Amino acid sequence: MSSSPRMKILITGAGGMLGTDLTESLKAEFEVIGLERRPVTHLTVPYDICDLTQARKTRDTVLSHRPEAIIHTAAMTDVDYCEEHHEEALENNVAATEHVVDAANEIDAPVIFYSTDYVFDGNKKGDYREEDVPHPLSFYGKTKRMGEEYILRAAKRALIFRITWLFGIWGRCFPKAILRQAAAATKMNVVDDQIGRPTWSWDVAQAMRELLLNKKELFFAQSATREIFHLGNSGTVHWADYARFILKGAGLGAVKIKDIPSAHLKRPAPRPENSVLSLEKTAKVLGLKLRPWEEATLEFLPKLKTELAVLEAKAKAQAAEKENTA
Ligand SMILES: NC(=O)c1ccc[n+]([C@@H]2O[C@H](COP(=O)([O-])OP(=O)(O)OC[C@H]3O[C@@H](n4cnc5c(N)ncnc54)[C@H](OP(=O)(O)O)[C@@H]3O)[C@@H](O)[C@H]2O)c1
Repeated sequence: MSSSPRMKILITGAGGMLGTDLTESLKAEFEVIGLERRPVTHLTVPYDICDLTQARKTRDTVLSHRPEAIIHTAAMTDVDYCEEHHEEALENNVAATEHVVDAANEIDAPVIFYSTDYVFDGNKKGDYREEDVPHPLSFYGKTKRMGEEYILRAAKRALIFRITWLFGIWGRCFPKAILRQAAAATKMNVVDDQIGRPTWSWDVAQAMRELLLNKKELFFAQSATREIFHLGNSGTVHWADYARFILKGAGLGAVKIKDIPSAHLKRPAPRPENSVLSLEKTAKVLGLKLRPWEEATLEFLPKLKTELAVLEAKAKAQAAEKENTA
């Protein structure tokens, strides 16, 4: 009896926060190929170097692999940097997405694209639904919306997942920033006027595994109509209470949080006050439902502490080596 070959999936931004968790979640049951802009040391799947802002190179690379599906996570995700570097943000978030979609169209591969709650202005009372009219406040949000618009207009087959307040081991995220600050402070200021759903990249990756492995027919059917879905861990919180939860969970409850308004931070990019995405459609149509953010965060924190300890040990060893060779 011959077993059917494993589905081949190409993941862009494979070394990023979500990309790495996707490679780890999918590699056992799928043939996973990563794409990255530069060499990364932590990836455990084969990957090619490809800067997606280069149309020709992107097309050649995608066509050389001929994947059955493409998961496009690559993006310029530093919201404040995008606010001050419009050209780069357009290149990496819009042009790169166009190149990936154009190449996918040539081989009839559906694309999974990740967008964000930042496509909304946050003024709505209540959860944002997929059909609500986007109105991004930040340039990052604008470029992600432009990526969505290209997909809705030009992709042969695609799904857009708007995800929100992502945290994970392999990138910059709020829990990491809080624990790093807590190592050197007894009190800190955190904003309390933005509300959202903290979401673990690992849980998003597990949802993708479920979709591609156990709901493959549904995935192909839905991608034919280029649907938008909202995905996130359930429950809501504001940043200051989220920080308190992280500190308590990490055994650092003695560090005090002072609630402040966002205006005090004077960051380049404005953020929406309400980032809460409705999870109803995704649960109803795709049967995908993520656990509460508290449960995900409590499972994540010990992994994060181990990772931070490893990084700290590495940095100390490097510093000692430098001193010895000086
Ligand atoms: N993080 C969040 O809170 C959040 C929230 C909502 C939605 N999202 C969306 O979710 C997706 C994944 O986010 P993430 O936080 O996992 O991102 P991330 O950690 O910043 O990783 C993005 C990866 O894409 C790569 N990349 C960027 N531009 C590229 C290009 N032109 N060619 C090739 N590779 C490129 C980056 O490489 P370099 O490091 O070399 O630049 C990086 O490895 C993104 O589409 C993002 O917009 C994120």
